[in-house]
Amino acid sequence: MDQASLPPHVLIFPLPLQGPVNSMFKLAELLCLSGLHVTFLLTKHTHGRLFRDTTTACHLDRYPGFRLETIPDGLPADHPRSGDQVMEILDSLKSTSKPLFKDVLITGRPVTCVIADGFLGFTLDVAKEMGIPVIYSRTLSACCLWIFYCLPKLIEAGEVPFQVRSVPGMEPFLRRRDLPSFCRSGNLSNPFIQLCMMESEETPRAYGLIINTFEELEGSVLSNIRTLCPNLYTIGPLHAHLKTKLRTGPKAPSSTPSNSLWQEDRSCMAWLDAQVSKSVIYVSFGSLTVLSSEQLMEIWNGLVNSETRFLWVIRPDLVAGCQKWGNLVPAEKGYIVSWAPQEEVLSHPSMGGFLTHSGWNSTLESVYEGVPMICCPTYADQQVNSRFVEEVWKVGLDMKDCYDQQTVEKTVRDLMEVRKDEFASSAEKMAKLAKEAVSEGGSSNHNLVRLIKDIEAMDS
Ligand code: UDX
Repeated sequence: MDQASLPPHVLIFPLPLQGPVNSMFKLAELLCLSGLHVTFLLTKHTHGRLFRDTTTACHLDRYPGFRLETIPDGLPADHPRSGDQVMEILDSLKSTSKPLFKDVLITGRPVTCVIADGFLGFTLDVAKEMGIPVIYSRTLSACCLWIFYCLPKLIEAGEVPFQVRSVPGMEPFLRRRDLPSFCRSGNLSNPFIQLCMMESEETPRAYGLIINTFEELEGSVLSNIRTLCPNLYTIGPLHAHLKTKLRTGPKAPSSTPSNSLWQEDRSCMAWLDAQVSKSVIYVSFGSLTVLSSEQLMEIWNGLVNSETRFLWVIRPDLVAGCQKWGNLVPAEKGYIVSWAPQEEVLSHPSMGGFLTHSGWNSTLESVYEGVPMICCPTYADQQVNSRFVEEVWKVGLDMKDCYDQQTVEKTVRDLMEVRKDEFASSAEKMAKLAKEAVSEGGSSNHNLVRLIKDIEAMDS
């Protein structure tokens, strides 16, 4: 086949973290299903973790137009690359990958368009130099992005530490403690503040911005973001498109493919099968959050005292300074795994609630399955996500900054017993909107089709 008759070729470069890798793999798969060619760029370290055995992301091999490429992140092999080292990972990635990224673009098939994480701003300079359009992708909530984008104006106006009344559209309900943690202090040299400021200046230079959200969930915030970046592709919940397409399509897999950086322990599914409908609370702090052993024990005691059945993900690195699960006494009513097939867990009929760190992927997955949430945010976007869960979407309770066992016990009882019907009903309504958004004619489906058409038009 000559070059001209080949489909458009998209290069996807996600942040090397579980949430972004997960959702960008889903986007890659959706583009491949539409006939586009995709090169997926992973750091060598992430590649090693993903392809540790044959049960992982290799399912993408079944698309002839899919190709994986790797790039070093510049960190030593034994670097832990843990949640509290994100800035170090980003800095190293930028200095090491920038020159190599150009080589990736030059070698092989010409690239029609780059889709890169908004935090990888250096990709835009390199691609623009070569005349290749860049679409940024963000795997955070729009409400958090909008706060990031407001930072330069807030700083210019001298509102440091930040006053919440200064975030347009969120004045009535946002409190100072709902801002990302690094905004709470007045330290302008904080590297995250610097990064967010740079990103908000960079974003309008891109061809467009993909956000993993949907209009019916974050419409008013999105209209604010459009004043800065008019070409938005709101295509979320990203994982949900595939649920519909793959279930019915000709390439339907026999089991749900995994993009997990940890080995999934599927034994919990049999345990869930034995539980009563809507009786279990699922507990997970995502891939990066680190708890102190005191925090873990308070939450543990609160859960056990609530007498609610629970499935808890305790990653090997969840507790600071502790590689094992500590001295937890196995509870009769609980089941522990080190990593779960989360999407499947949340869609299980036994699910009654999700005690979550309010990472954006977890929030969207819970919204989609109609599972009410208890939020224990720890950093970054989690604080604002949790406020929206309780105050705006009314699909859960926010425990922000209060993780003592009495609060945990009371909040679990409120969600799972006292206010069970109220939350079940509001979560169900939101889930319906999410499902409509990704269905034929829905807002996210429409935007995904538009994204694909726009990429095709770049080639013509
Ligand atoms: C990070 C940040 O912590 C978060 O604040 C931000 O919104 C996204 O980037 P992470 O902590 O990994 O993300 O949380 P989250 O966004 O919720 O992503 C976790 C992903 O891992 C989800 O897709 C979830 O399904 C998956 N997961 C988690 C599993 O598959 N199994 C598990 O046991 C736990």
